[in-house]
Parts: sequence; structure tokens; C-alpha cells
Amino acid sequence: MSKLQQRVEQAVTVLFETVHDYSPVTFANSLGAEDMVLTDILDRNHLDIDMFSLDTGRLPQETYDLMQTVRERYKTPLRIYFPNVKQVETYVAEHGINGFYESIELRKACCFVRKVEPLRRALQGKRAWVTGMRREQAPTRSNLKVSIFDGDNGIQKVSPLLEWSNAEVWEYLKHYEVPYNKLHDKFYPSIGCAPCTRAITPGEDIRSGRWWWEDAETKECGLHTHKAVPLK
Ligand code: ADX
Ligand code: SF4
Repeated sequence: MSKLQQRVEQAVTVLFETVHDYSPVTFANSLGAEDMVLTDILDRNHLDIDMFSLDTGRLPQETYDLMQTVRERYKTPLRIYFPNVKQVETYVAEHGINGFYESIELRKACCFVRKVEPLRRALQGKRAWVTGMRREQAPTRSNLKVSIFDGDNGIQKVSPLLEWSNAEVWEYLKHYEVPYNKLHDKFYPSIGCAPCTRAITPGEDIRSGRWWWEDAETKECGLHTHKAVPLK
């Protein structure tokens, strides 16, 4: 069995165990390369796990195009969550439409309104959530476990691709002809909101195009930290 097949089998086992132990389970699908691997694995194995995307309202057009393709190609419906209208209106009134460039505090507050609050709603009633996080992606992810209790959300958090390399992700996508975000072909290995993501140059760290004006240690949007606090 090839290394990739072993990786896939391990991920499928983790997912079946998660369904067995923690149903109902949901998958947070950002439509990034890792998440497209998971989308394909879930579909191929008929896993009883639904999926959702957080539409922050600031995503690149290429991500919306992929959202539409996923809807056409895969059976599992992709539920889309939008931010709370009042909270966005208040943030924009107080800090401006691009207020997040002014400070880390304002950046995290924007991520709170546009991602963390909708995430809380998306996870309601679930006992586990699946993410496409990989250990290699960031120093903030070095201590993560494949399955761990997520105290912020009060449910289990499962990352079946934790030990996969970037090359393995791409080997899977090519082998199974999985659709992926067109921005990946333009030197965007990690994609978030359009104003907070840029292309990288070869040799740079994979997440260096995300919130490029911040240090690597602060670069989590609040979906995956214990510091998800709204601005007063
Ligand atoms: S982020 O925290 O910096 O934005 P990253 O883009 O690396 O995270 O994604 C890590 C995981 O968080 C993804 O694999 C996915 O499970 C979840 N995630 C991130 N953004 C979204 C989104 N917009 N919608 C749903 N899930 C998301
Ligand atoms: Fe706001 Fe940027 Fe965070 Fe998106 S990534 S929610 S635009 S601060």
C-alpha cells in the first residue's frame, strides 16, 4: 500500500471513530486544499458528517466559485453561515470597512464578528467538529492532537489530516481529480478573506500570506485559539 493510501485509510478510520463516538458531527469547510481532501473523503466513504462554510462576506471570488462547484459535484450540502448583520454594521460604523488593518485587536474583533460568532452557531447541537488543520502549517498548531476536547466550543475537535504533508494533500487532489481553489495556482497556498490574504514568493512559509503584517505567533483568527473575545 502506498504512503498516501495509508494516510487516507488512517483518516477514514479517525472519521468513522468520530461518528461512532460523537454523533452528530460536522465539518468546518474553508474550501482550502486540505478541506477539499476532506470533502472528497467524506463523500467517497458516505460518512454521516455534514459540512458548513463560514462566508465572512469578504472571501475572494475564486472561493465563491469553488463553493458553487462543490454544490454541483458533491452530494453533501454545504451549509453557509453568514455573520450577524447588526454586529457587522456596528463594527463597520465604529472602525470602518477595513478597520482590521489598524491593530491586532481590531483584526481579531473583525474575525470574531465575521467568523467566530457564526462558528458558534454552526456548531450548535453538534458533539464534534472536523477541521483540515495540519501540524506543519503554523507554530500555533505544533501541539494540536488529532482528536482533542475543544474547551472554547465545548465539543470534540478532530483534525484527521494533522500529520499530512503539503505534498500529500496535493498528491490526493491530483490523484482523485478533486476541484480546488484557482488561487492555489497563483502562489496562494493558504486562503482566507481577500483583504487579509496575499500571494507568497517561493520558499516563504505557507501561511506567510495570511495577515502578513502580523507575527506568526498571533496568526490565528479565533476559530482555533482561546483568545476569541469580542471588542467591548
Ligand atoms: S484560519 O483560522 O487561519 O482561518 P485556516 O485557513 O488555516 O484557519 O483553516 C484551518 C481550518 O479552520 C480549516 O481546515 C477549516 O476546518 C476551518 N476554517 C477556516 N476558515 C473557515 C471558513 N471560512 N469556513 C469553515 N471553516 C473554516
Ligand atoms: Fe475580517 Fe480579515 Fe478576519 Fe476576514 S480575515 S474576518 S476580513 S480580519
